[in-house]
Amino acid sequence: MVPAKLSVCTAAILLFAAGMPVSAQDKADAEFQSFKSDAVGAIKGLAQNLKKELQAAMKAGGPVKAIEVCNTVAPSIADAQSQERGLSVRRTALKLRNPDNAPDDFERKVLEKFVADIAAGKDPKKLAYTEVVRTDDGTELRFMKAIPTGELCLKCHGGNVAPDVKAAISKLYPEDQATGFKAGELRGAFSVTKKQ
Ligand code: HEC
Repeated sequence: MVPAKLSVCTAAILLFAAGMPVSAQDKADAEFQSFKSDAVGAIKGLAQNLKKELQAAMKAGGPVKAIEVCNTVAPSIADAQSQERGLSVRRTALKLRNPDNAPDDFERKVLEKFVADIAAGKDPKKLAYTEVVRTDDGTELRFMKAIPTGELCLKCHGGNVAPDVKAAISKLYPEDQATGFKAGELRGAFSVTKKQ
């Protein structure tokens, strides 16, 4: 009986070494890894396209004209990236310009964590957070990346927004809260969700 036992054991070790059989945990881990790389790709796609459109619009017509671009183009780029990758990517913030970008409970918690991390001296460019969240209707894979305020942003989000720019913003966003930021502060975050 001893040799038989040994061979079962050896077979198990060999199977394990070959990565077989794949456990449910391994599968979940692999899905989470692939979600993370898709999320990073979606955020890069959204961030690069937004920056390109914003810079071109600022150059062509200054900030007043560029506000229209942010208003129409930002949501449509986010939708295109979401559809292409089978997930949802959006921007959100604690202090909002567009109320449609309001954070859900998870996003609020992470945004508050990013604010605390920056206050503790962490580099805002490197802040990201990821979690598998169990909900009533299944599992959600979530990923968030901080958006620091840069110099380019101050024309429309800074403490000293020109009156014509301010007027154009108020017309489209009467409840705007997204001014008064300083360079380096947290402006908001990209947020990616995939339901499973
Ligand atoms: C030309 C003016 C303008 C500039 C410059 C600008 N923004 Fe905005 N920003 C807007 C407008 C308009 C919206 C609302 C977009 C919408 O309706 O979704 C907005 C929305 C946002 C949001 C979504 C959350 C919210 O408050 O609705 C974030 C995050 C954001 N901007 C970050 C930035 C960053 C970072 C920069 C600099 C790289 C920047 N913005 C530069 C006009 C601008």
